[in-house]
Amino acid sequence: LSKMVDMKPKTKRVFVNDVDVFSSKNIAKSPTREELLGHLLKCDVILYNISENSTQQMINEATWALTTLHEEMENFKSRKLFILISSVMTWAMTKPQNPDEPDVPISEEQFRRRRPHPAFRAHNELEKLVLKLGRTKKTRLPAYVVSSGLQYGKGENLFHFFFKVRYKCNLEVPMFGPGTNYIPMIHIHDLGGVIQSIIQNKPKAKYILAVDDSKNTLEEIVHAISTALGHGKVKEFTEQEPKELDYLKINLSLDASLIKELNTQWTSENGMVENIDNIVEEYKVTRNLLPLKIFLFGPPAVGKTTIAKQLCVYYQLNHIKIEDVIEEKLRELVSCYTMEILRSFEEDGGLSADEKLLEIVKEKLNSKPCSNQGFVLDGFPHTYEQAQALFSETQESISIEPVYNKKITPDNIFVLNASDEFLIERVQALPESVAEKMHYTQEAFLSRLKGHRNRCAADETLLDYFEELEIYPEEIGINSDDLEYTAALKRIIGMVGEPKNYGPSPEELEAQRLKMEEEKRQRLANEVTERKRRNQATLAEMAAHYQEWNLSELERQEQERQSAQSLPLRLYLMMYVMPSLSEAMLECSKVRPEDPVDFLLPVPPRHRDNTQTSDVKKLKLNT
Ligand SMILES: *[C@@H]1O[C@H](CO)[C@@H](O)[C@H](O)[C@H]1NC(C)=O
Ligand SMILES: *[C@@H]1O[C@H](CO)[C@@H](O)[C@H](O)[C@H]1NC(C)=O
Ligand SMILES: *[C@@H]1O[C@H](CO)[C@@H](O)[C@H](O)[C@H]1NC(C)=O
Repeated sequence: LSKMVDMKPKTKRVFVNDVDVFSSKNIAKSPTREELLGHLLKCDVILYNISENSTQQMINEATWALTTLHEEMENFKSRKLFILISSVMTWAMTKPQNPDEPDVPISEEQFRRRRPHPAFRAHNELEKLVLKLGRTKKTRLPAYVVSSGLQYGKGENLFHFFFKVRYKCNLEVPMFGPGTNYIPMIHIHDLGGVIQSIIQNKPKAKYILAVDDSKNTLEEIVHAISTALGHGKVKEFTEQEPKELDYLKINLSLDASLIKELNTQWTSENGMVENIDNIVEEYKVTRNLLPLKIFLFGPPAVGKTTIAKQLCVYYQLNHIKIEDVIEEKLRELVSCYTMEILRSFEEDGGLSADEKLLEIVKEKLNSKPCSNQGFVLDGFPHTYEQAQALFSETQESISIEPVYNKKITPDNIFVLNASDEFLIERVQALPESVAEKMHYTQEAFLSRLKGHRNRCAADETLLDYFEELEIYPEEIGINSDDLEYTAALKRIIGMVGEPKNYGPSPEELEAQRLKMEEEKRQRLANEVTERKRRNQATLAEMAAHYQEWNLSELERQEQERQSAQSLPLRLYLMMYVMPSLSEAMLECSKVRPEDPVDFLLPVPPRHRDNTQTSDVKKLKLNT
């Protein structure tokens, strides 16, 4: 407030009672009453703000200041002004003028009929004292009461709760009770405007109601906040509600008229709901909640998605993975299977698949969750042209600086890189089920990797695009020393900075850590079970073959064994062992199996054909 009450043309000294901002920093740590009086006497305007968050101590101080100044009035060098900023909570219990018409707003002139909320009796007493002392004949201390609506704007206190919940939990905004109650409000700028005008114009009326024109219900407000910040979901809040929200239960429809003459330059005349977009913007700037926009780029299988997921948890961002975006769009299209959409598809039939894709991604980046909280863009776009189509804006006049959409262009770019050998090895080591899900067959993977390397070697690469915008990518090498990405994440977080959003609380962090550990444990356990299962299956199969072999060929085998026994060892090897073994070893060196011994295991006769030497090959093909 002290900043907003701008004193022109004639300079005045204004005292504002905000202890945090003013007294403690500019006067003294905690001034004695005498010291304080000395300062008050040097001021032309004394402003005490006792709206909702003030303590009893502040009310006491305001009462003391008013009565003491009143007693000292005769010694003033010039007239002073006393302004009390109080709260509409002192009207909370006011009955409608006509009980048959409860919906008719209560007008400002009826201020003598006001009845306070039980917690605001002291405020009300002080309001009365201000009015009473201000009525003194030939007073040198004219006094005003400004009964302020619940304040919002510039990150202000009351609605901060809702924003916080919305940011923090990324969930439904809570709603208390049915939400049909009317809440009188005012933007903090407009309150400042009223006070400035009182100081300059000294209006005749001494009780001024500072509320805007909106007659918004709690439900409307909560919906507006929720919609502006995201998907518009609201949840009824049944737990113990925070004390600060008691004020939001007020049900009061007020008509203010003096404020129209006093405040001529409204910031938010029609209220919060109508101006919600500006207010959200203001809130983000004031509370330094600008969205983080991160882009992870790199070859397939380097770990972009794993890192992206962790960054999203850490910074509470939205994960933009192209496959998911497409899937979501498809679901959306299916669910709103309307003529319009079909028509729109027909109409832009001229768009190529790539253009359509870019359009969908652009829409996603412009969505409320992304533009409020930010995002991690996982691996897409791939090329200079795609980035240009996504982020560049058409230039109206020729300018040297490239023009791009700052709202959706990532400002933190990390290039994850690793050697081909490392990546190939990693993909080979993936459990079959995972590799399948990611379409990482050996061939598909190699071709994707090659595609990536080729794009990076093009004349104009994706990274060139960002460098032209003076957004410099940071390279992060991934290798086998950092399989859990701890070092990579640490570097990224070190560069991006601490979370600007309401990051997770220590408890949430601990819960996350436990969850991740549990997931890791589960993953390892699954892998072990999977390996066991596979081994067992192989063993069972082999056992079955053996059995068959055992029974049907028992005789022949016995014969063989007997004749073999009668031959010299060398001859035996030449006749019975070497032919199969050498073919098997040749085969083995072609295929290079993981486990050569396993590969060379004897073959059940079911798989033998007439030529004994192809046994090994056959077994491998069949199992
Ligand atoms: C608030 O008051 C209006 C009448 O002005 C009434 O219709 C509404 O039900 C009240 N809401 C609550 C929650 O008391
Ligand atoms: C990534 O690593 C490969 C192999 O180590 C190298 O050839 C390539 O230049 C690197 N790419 C970037 C963009 O640094
Ligand atoms: C042959 O079968 C018997 C019983 O049917 C079994 O005990 C033996 O282990 C089998 N031999 C081989 C080589 O599997």
